[in-house]
Amino acid sequence: MFQITCHTRTSKETGKKMEKQQKSSHLVLVMLPFQGHMTPMLQLASILHSKGFSITIVHPELNSPNPSNHPEFTFVSIPDKLTESQLSDKNVTGLVWSLNKTCPVPLRQCLEKILHSHHHIAALIYDTQMYCAQTIADDLGLPGITLRTSAATTLLLYPVFSQLDEEDFMSEIKSPELQALHLQRLRGLLSQNPAKEMMEIRVELTNALKSSLAIIVNSMEFLELEALSKVKQYFPAPIITIGPLHKLAPAICSSLFTEEDKCISWLNKQAPKSVIYVSLGSMASIDRQELIEIAWGLSNSKQPFLWVVRPGMVRGSEWIESLPNGFEESVGERGCIVKWAPQTEVLAHAAVGGFWSHCGWNSTIESICEGVPMLCKPFFGDQHLNTSYICNVWKIGLELQNLERGNIERTIKRLMVDMEGNDIRKRAMDLKEKAAFCLVEEGSTSCSFNGLTKHISSASET
Ligand code: UDX
Repeated sequence: MFQITCHTRTSKETGKKMEKQQKSSHLVLVMLPFQGHMTPMLQLASILHSKGFSITIVHPELNSPNPSNHPEFTFVSIPDKLTESQLSDKNVTGLVWSLNKTCPVPLRQCLEKILHSHHHIAALIYDTQMYCAQTIADDLGLPGITLRTSAATTLLLYPVFSQLDEEDFMSEIKSPELQALHLQRLRGLLSQNPAKEMMEIRVELTNALKSSLAIIVNSMEFLELEALSKVKQYFPAPIITIGPLHKLAPAICSSLFTEEDKCISWLNKQAPKSVIYVSLGSMASIDRQELIEIAWGLSNSKQPFLWVVRPGMVRGSEWIESLPNGFEESVGERGCIVKWAPQTEVLAHAAVGGFWSHCGWNSTIESICEGVPMLCKPFFGDQHLNTSYICNVWKIGLELQNLERGNIERTIKRLMVDMEGNDIRKRAMDLKEKAAFCLVEEGSTSCSFNGLTKHISSASET
């Protein structure tokens, strides 16, 4: 089995040979068309391109990336045949299932076309949830590599733990770290969704993971040590942790929404570490009453806040028209509401002292990298797992138990003002340092990338 090592120094000749091979190496990347998946895939593409690979990105029509933002890549759009009702349903599981039904034929045709026009394909790298790509890679004799954009621990949750019986499951979670994740509760959430689509996704995704040549994860070794060692017992392929991708490819422009830079000039006027940044990611939604509770909770906390309300995020509203009377007057200049923010820039801003998040994996990693403590309100899927990591394992945040104004006000104060927040902030800064260390020359991520590029080169030669 392939081993990743740090010993990457080669003779000048070997180095030149590798560089020459990589220059001629062509990678095809298959994207899942959701913001939290497209961003890390484009970041990975950018890093691999900088290492000498040429890149073709194949993507469904839904949420097509803008090719003019990435002139260095070739983009190929494939028909996804998603219907209006599927799109308006906003059922992510259903969409993932459908994409894996409709994309295989055009994806295969696209790959055959690339191969027929004598282009070499060194590897097919696909989002784990576009698992149909692995079967096509196997059929065409291409090395298939999967990119997991969530925590590595999810590799246990969906394909493994959901299928174990109670006794086996309990025997798997003896370690304190895994116990602190409350995986039982998460497994319960999963098994409450026995929809045909979910069952099929679990089986097919697991099969793809087991056939892939390598599993790349946008994570860092030290964040998930115990879970990673367990994951390695279940999958034959090497697990390659290459996070934080956004720090390695900071210039990638991947937003599906327009970023409102005015919030940066507003942040410039705020005191250091005083602002709570509130964003629920690209998919979560709330109802009107919840919007009202959040508004009063923020107002009553007396902390300055930057609040992202995506158009359509409030069910039944266009944007913020259901904000309560008197809210704007009570908040004045202390609050700033935008439709979409330049999040990584916001989190790195000196004025930001806390991040109220839905705990999507990208947001979690981005917050860790800036040492920003978190207030967690997960909505679905892996967001619950990430919350358990943040609050119970890394202890860099507090969980918001419900969206009631008094509770919101109290929890914001606990994080931002009370003594309790001091230890949390200190741990968040420690984690930031560890994350930065992954990126130095001998750090785990740098080693992983060297291993990954070598792995691709040797796989494509055989
Ligand atoms: C989805 C799922 O919700 C999540 O659980 C899974 O881990 C990935 O896919 P999403 O809702 O998109 O994630 O959240 P997240 O993973 O945090 O990604 C959101 C991305 O949008 C982040 O990279 C963040 O920087 C960016 N963002 C968000 C902005 O740039 N501006 C904003 O205003 C809000």
